[in-house]
Amino acid sequence: MVKILAIESSCDETAAAVITDGYKLLSNVVATQIPVHQLYGGVVPEIASREHLNSVVPVVRHALDEAGVKLADLDAVAVTQGPGLIGSLLVGVSYAKALAFSAGVPLIGVHHLEGHMSAPFLEHPQLTYPYLALVVSGSHSGVAVAEAAGRYRLLGQSRDDAAGEAFDKIARALGLPYPGGPAIQAAAKDGEPIYDFPCAWLDDSYDFSFSGLKSAVLNFLNKKRMKGEDFRMEDVAASAQEAIIKVLATKAVRAACEFGQQTIVLAGGVASNQALRERVKELAPEMQVVYPSPKYCTDNAAMIAAAALGKYQRGEFADWSLNAQANLPLYFYI
Ligand code: KG4
Ligand code: ZN
Repeated sequence: MVKILAIESSCDETAAAVITDGYKLLSNVVATQIPVHQLYGGVVPEIASREHLNSVVPVVRHALDEAGVKLADLDAVAVTQGPGLIGSLLVGVSYAKALAFSAGVPLIGVHHLEGHMSAPFLEHPQLTYPYLALVVSGSHSGVAVAEAAGRYRLLGQSRDDAAGEAFDKIARALGLPYPGGPAIQAAAKDGEPIYDFPCAWLDDSYDFSFSGLKSAVLNFLNKKRMKGEDFRMEDVAASAQEAIIKVLATKAVRAACEFGQQTIVLAGGVASNQALRERVKELAPEMQVVYPSPKYCTDNAAMIAAAALGKYQRGEFADWSLNAQANLPLYFYI
């Protein structure tokens, strides 16, 4: 049985997981930095790198111990190569290279978004390619046709703020804590989407733009406060959530129809959003809609391990020159 250790450190979670054949996880450890960054209302890159430095050794040790695996038992070490915060990525990449070199096993570099798109296999190992993937996180919004493992045809992506970033910034304006997505989801449950905030449809494009929505919500709040008019924060949260999920769900389903896909995979932190999941299912009742549990939607190393398993089987190994890349493009072909 193959055993792969995977490390993820692209943003504000230090994570390690050990996986074996059949997408079976032997361990999955995540040390979150959220309480540290909450003090600042968002991720502070310099603090994130330092926190990764403190956490990476104990987190990897914990993952190996929990899996009952020694360094010598490993067949490969995988790591998120990018995209992400460069200082954060460097911690994981340097440590993974050192571990792989000392254990005498191959190194595997994984694209963070390929990790997100591979997360559904952990709970749905029978999932087959091709599928339409909506990847929505704190730093990316994208629609891609996953044609085969490692082959993604990117149809559209964020032109400005990513979907998760929009949730985070709007939450901050509403006085809600970081990360904003779960906070807005919770507030929206007690509100009604009574405000018609703008949606940027961008004509026929599968790109996304959420900065106009963010500005519209900020203007709305400023006006209400200046005029001393009452409003319910929960209604604003519900309306902003509606404006975001409407665009995401509609474009994902439209892309699935246009490119003849029967399965839609929702991935990334924003894929934890209950309203988004329900909307996609409502708009595509005849399609299979697959999404990971919330713990596999937000950043984790299990998804990096899932992507690495395929790379190991295909013999896609990195050499020792592997470096962290903040803007690593998603390799795709048209
Ligand atoms: O994938 P992820 O953990 O990190 C990146 O790769 O960026 O995504 C984090 C993002 C944050 O912006 C967070 O607010 C959002 O995912 N998020 C949510 C929910 N849970 C996390 N957004 C909407 N609804 C949620 N339930
Ligand atoms: Zn992510």
